[in-house]
Amino acid sequence: MSQGHQDRKLAQASLANLFKIFTVSEQPGSTLARIDEEISNNLLGFLQDNIVASEKGIEELERDFSDFCIPEEPIFVSEQVEFLLDKLVAESVHTASPGFVGHMTSVFPYFMLPLSKIMIALNQNVVKTETSKAFTPLERQVVAMLHRLVYASEDAFYIENMHQSSQSLGAFCSGGTVANLTALWLARNNAFRPDGSFTGIREEGLMAALNYFGYKGAAILVSERGHYSLIKAADLLGIGRDQIIPVTTDAHNRVDVIALEKKLVPTGSREGQGHCCRRYCRYH
Ligand SMILES: Cc1ncc(COP(=O)(O)O)c(C=O)c1O
Repeated sequence: MSQGHQDRKLAQASLANLFKIFTVSEQPGSTLARIDEEISNNLLGFLQDNIVASEKGIEELERDFSDFCIPEEPIFVSEQVEFLLDKLVAESVHTASPGFVGHMTSVFPYFMLPLSKIMIALNQNVVKTETSKAFTPLERQVVAMLHRLVYASEDAFYIENMHQSSQSLGAFCSGGTVANLTALWLARNNAFRPDGSFTGIREEGLMAALNYFGYKGAAILVSERGHYSLIKAADLLGIGRDQIIPVTTDAHNRVDVIALEKKLVPTGSREGQGHCCRRYCRYH
């Protein structure tokens, strides 16, 4: 064992230290405090100085993350931060660089950094007002604004529904996959609503819904440019991956409506009326 290793101060797992990490902020001069200062004073400089944009291949990077045992012994925060700077931040992607071309990940406006600190410090949970208070009406207000942007309903509609706890004008999602899944979930439930003795797909499930209406299956017609997350959504919703039906697009990448019409086939309702409801048609 080297002399340096012998002298190394070891972190202690103790109740006192556990309390400390939730109460005592980093001391001035600590690694974390220095990083915090550098980021606050000159974010771009920090990123430029710390992201090395090396040519390392993924196999080489994987070697730094090859330990699969949760460490038994604690280590100091500063030590972990050094590791993160050296092995993670250094080998990350500089999405804020003016030369970065990414289809959806880019630089944040400068004010997001201090605001994100407030968010972490507050750590609210908007699912219930006991843990969010003003954050819940704020969320509902933002959802109403976005709803109005898309659907442009009358002012009275928003006045009545915006803060109505029994209503929801939308939902924030953690990303595109969850957004697509949520939208298709609602569409599926809307297509197989309660009807006569059928209490709805939400309660009875897909099998009962198809049996009740006399269908052999359900399908989702999507643009051929549709994201692959739609396929995962079809899988999760019990519709089936094969039931995602691509529809051709025109020169401007818009769904070809004529091609869409051609994919729709009357399914034949339970009463045998042969009507074609866009929401639950079979396809060619
Ligand atoms: C249209 C579309 N849907 C869904 C996704 C998936 O998003 P996420 O990675 O946030 O789940 C993307 C991401 O590229 C997308 O462009």
